[in-house]
Amino acid sequence: MRRVLVTGASRGLGLEFVRQYLAAGDQVTAACRQPGTAAALRGLSPDAADRLSVIQLDVTDPASVSRAATEHAQGELDLLINCAGVMGRHNDALGTIDYGEWLQVLNVNLLGPARMCEAFLPRLVQASHPVVVSITSGMGSLADNSSGGYIAYRTSKAALNMLMRSAAIDLKSRGVTCVLVNPGWVKTDMGGPGATLTATQSVASMRRLIAKLGPQDSGRFFNYDGLEYPW
Ligand SMILES: NC(=O)c1ccc[n+]([C@@H]2O[C@H](COP(=O)([O-])OP(=O)(O)OC[C@H]3O[C@@H](n4cnc5c(N)ncnc54)[C@H](OP(=O)(O)O)[C@@H]3O)[C@@H](O)[C@H]2O)c1
Repeated sequence: MRRVLVTGASRGLGLEFVRQYLAAGDQVTAACRQPGTAAALRGLSPDAADRLSVIQLDVTDPASVSRAATEHAQGELDLLINCAGVMGRHNDALGTIDYGEWLQVLNVNLLGPARMCEAFLPRLVQASHPVVVSITSGMGSLADNSSGGYIAYRTSKAALNMLMRSAAIDLKSRGVTCVLVNPGWVKTDMGGPGATLTATQSVASMRRLIAKLGPQDSGRFFNYDGLEYPW
């Protein structure tokens, strides 16, 4: 049984990670902004209720992150999944940039995972093979950008990629494996109904990849199917 913490657990991919890790018998901490209204999360696996903790956590709020880390400071943490994310407006491009919104997207998608890594590091380093997975996007790939636009989202995920690449180096001596995974285009509120994958398919595939990760993989950027993704 592994101890897993997932951010953005109220819906979409985060909720599906929680569902699948619970079904696999793991101990799951599901972090979301408003546990009181996260009905889908609370309705998961009533028979696994003793392995599910739902905690309040807003990744943009340093006080919320540090309170969660302090209140749940006990025991090792095997796997942190930074899944919470926002896209911002779809059509932002030079000439129409909303700087306030850009800052908010960076706050969630970039500073949020950094806050989580820092706050939960003391628990991660207690585990024998700790892993941090940050859910990035193909839209954060420089090599893969041939269509432009989505400036806030693209830059937030490109910077997240650099954050995790540095974290892999900085945390190597402490045994923490840090990787990036692109979940594919997934039918969630963010991905929309025209996406090619269901959340069940994407998360099942990412879980197979995560199960095989070791220190030799730290700093790598993967596609959900386990193939290397171009930076
Ligand atoms: N779906 C895709 O096709 C796709 C493709 C590439 C990458 N991704 C990435 O996959 C991850 C999950 O996306 P998704 O498709 O599941 O999106 P989603 O259905 O829109 O869910 C987003 C999740 O992030 C949470 N969240 C937003 N702001 C937050 C904050 N400040 N603090 C804590 N949680 C916050 C939301 O919580 P609330 O319910 O409280 O709003 C929700 O649980 C994201 O990082 C996204 O960029 C998705």
